Order: sequence, then C-alpha cells, then structure tokens
Amino acid sequence: MIIGVPKEIMKGERRVAASPETVKKMVSDGLTVLIEKDAGEGAFYHDQEYLASGAEIVENVAELFDRADVILKVKEPLFNEQQDKHEVDLMHEGQVIITFIHPAAPANHDMVKHMAERGITSITLDGIPRITRAQAMDALTSMSTCAGYKGMLIAANELPNFVPQIFTAVGMIKPINVLVVGVGVGGLQAIATAKRLGAIVHAADIRPAAAEQAMSLGAKVIDLCVPAEEAIGEGGYALMLSPERLEEERRILAEYVKDMDIIFLSALVPGKLAPTLVTEEMVKSMKPGSAIVDISIDQGGNCAITPPGTVEVKHGVTLVGIKNIPGLLPKSSTWMFSQNVYNLLKYLIKDGEIYLDMEDQIIQESLTTYAGKVVHKGALEAFAALGH
Ligand code: NAI
Repeated sequence: MIIGVPKEIMKGERRVAASPETVKKMVSDGLTVLIEKDAGEGAFYHDQEYLASGAEIVENVAELFDRADVILKVKEPLFNEQQDKHEVDLMHEGQVIITFIHPAAPANHDMVKHMAERGITSITLDGIPRITRAQAMDALTSMSTCAGYKGMLIAANELPNFVPQIFTAVGMIKPINVLVVGVGVGGLQAIATAKRLGAIVHAADIRPAAAEQAMSLGAKVIDLCVPAEEAIGEGGYALMLSPERLEEERRILAEYVKDMDIIFLSALVPGKLAPTLVTEEMVKSMKPGSAIVDISIDQGGNCAITPPGTVEVKHGVTLVGIKNIPGLLPKSSTWMFSQNVYNLLKYLIKDGEIYLDMEDQIIQESLTTYAGKVVHKGALEAFAALGH
C-alpha cells in the first residue's frame, strides 16, 4: 500500500502529517511512503531525513496524489494554486484521506460533498472519539496541548513585566496573576505552563472534575456555583449554560478579571459556539498592559472583543485571537500529530489493506465520506439545518 504525504498548502501552515520517525515506522510495517519535496521544511524536518527513513521524495504533488492509496494531511483539502486544481480533484475514486476536515463547518460543506461525489473515503481527525482506547490517535488533544502551552507563552511575552516573584537589590517584584477559564486539555496545559513560569494561577470551569484537576496543578479554583446537572451532559462533557447562568458566571468572573495580568480563555461546549464569558466592560476594568489569549476563537471566542486571527490592543489590553497557535510550535505539533495519524493508520490496516469496521465507534464518528455519500452525522445535521 502506498501512503502519500503532500506539503500543506494553507497559508502559514508549517505542520506536516508525517515525521521521519513515523515514516520509518510505516516503512518497517511494509508501506511505501511518498513525501512531497520540502513538505517538512516548515517543521524543520528535511528531505534528507525522510529519505534516510526510507521515504521516496516526490517533486510533483499531482504524481503523489495519483500514486498514493492513502493521503495523510493536516488541514482539509483546499485549492492548490500551483496545480490550479482543488486537492479533491487531485484525488481519485477509492482513495482514502485522513486529516482534520471539520465537516460540519459551513465553509467545508461543498468540499465534503465533492469528496463524496468523487468516491473518496475520508476520515476526519476531529471526529476521533475522546475515549481511552483512541487516546493515541487523538490529534485534537495533541493540538490543544500545544495551544495551551504556546498560548500562555505568547501572553507572557506580551506583558510589560516579569511573571514570577523576583527579589532584587532594589526591592521585591510581585508575581503576576493569571486566570484560566475553561480547564479542558488546553486549559490544563496553560495552568501548568503559567505555574512553571511562577505566576499565581486562578482557574474556573463548570465541571467539578475540571476544577479538581486545576487544583491538583496548584491553581486556586473559582467557584462558579453551577449545579452539576446543569453543567455536565452526555459522556461527562460540558453543557451550554442558560443565559441566566452565563450572566451569573460573568458576574463572578468580573470580580477576578480586574486584578488579572493574563486571562487565558478556553471554554468550549462540544458542537456549539463558545460562550461569551468576558465582556468589553470587563476588558475595560483590566490593568493597562495586561493580556488576554482566547484559544476558543475558532468557535467565536470567549471574550466579546477578541480580534479573530490577529493580535490587537483594545482599552490598553493586548487581545490575542491567533487561530493557529499549534502551528507556531511546528516541530512539536508535527511530532505529536504525526504519531497520532500513524497510530490511526496502523489501527485501520488489516492484512495490508485499510479495513473499515462500521460497528467500531472510532470509525463511526470519524468517517466523513464513504461509497459516494457523506456519512458524518455532524455534517449531515449541519446540511439539514442550512436546508442543503
Ligand atoms: P473542551 O475543549 O470541549 O472544553 C474546554 C473546557 O471548557 C471544558 O473543561 C468545559 O467544561 C469548559 N467549559 C464549557 N463551558 C464553560 C463555561 N461556561 N465556563 C467555564 N468553563 C466552561 O474540553 P476538552 O479539552 O475536550 O476536555 C474535556 C474533558 O475530556 C476533559 O476532562 C478531558 O480530560 C477529557 N478528555 C478525555 C480524552 C480521552 O479520554 N481520550 C481526550 C481528551 C479530553
């Protein structure tokens, strides 16, 4: 079986779907691996290393798409300007693609339907269920880890002052205050990073389990006073709070926000727009020079005035709305991502072929297009909601 790894074409995307390490594993599993020339340059993985791991470097991406049985990518298929063709049109019937597709997002609906029409089997990494046996394939969790770490460093870098307590000959410098709202995978990593930098860390989440984890990392937990039955839904995930509860939450948070130097926002409810937890008024109450990093920006943001995709100073506060924070850590994020993709690929291969067990929850939740149809539940629901 031939695996093809093209260079990512989204502007500014530096990650790639295979590392020299995973190429070596694939080759020793008996797979042929084609890597597009310079595909790993942005993540500091060079063609020589891929060659040494047993890959074949392919100059023309059209040839790579043509020869491969399985395509591994990071981002959804996009229009390739150099080829003057959409990546979906570079693929062929029966070919399998594994990547982040975000099939429910309206911007991807036409592309997903087009993949189905062309008979492409697509598997979306954002559909991998968050269950124990899928942990090693869970690229979303890996990327949240990167966003938590790098996001906190970005915030610290924006500050005009030290983060830790420092004793100097001219006096003592106090440590800064950090607030992390939403303690999922990204939030936990942000807390750990802020603690390592020496900040005083506060944390808030509506799930009691999240609050416990925050406390075990040394954060001071803010009680949001939300009854468990209103906070936790199916599978232990957060529920969207009622408008009244959200208002109450903002009121509680406002008491803390004004004293914070960094606010890290990562509160999400699966399948919904991110709840607004920091209003413009709350931003105005903050000290000039403080910073907010809003990693929930892809889902609309937790702060009402986060600038999507960029960094801006408003009311003296630096607001970071960068969308691809894992891409700012290209070597580590590529290393983690490529391990996740390799583990999924290995899981799918039986007797040298891709085998899709339709009874398997991992397949059911990640399979996006198959046998000429869109089969992803979230995408079909989104199509129906928009009357497609
Ligand atoms: P997420 O990215 O969906 O949400 C982030 C956090 O926002 C959650 O902790 C959620 O409770 C919180 N949140 C939602 N609404 C809020 C509000 N109004 N105010 C404050 N916080 C709010 O979360 P993620 O990263 O998916 O993690 C959720 C849970 O799943 C965690 O307990 C994590 O440990 C677990 N998990 C398990 C995995 C596995 O078993 N394979 C893999 C990944 C996560």
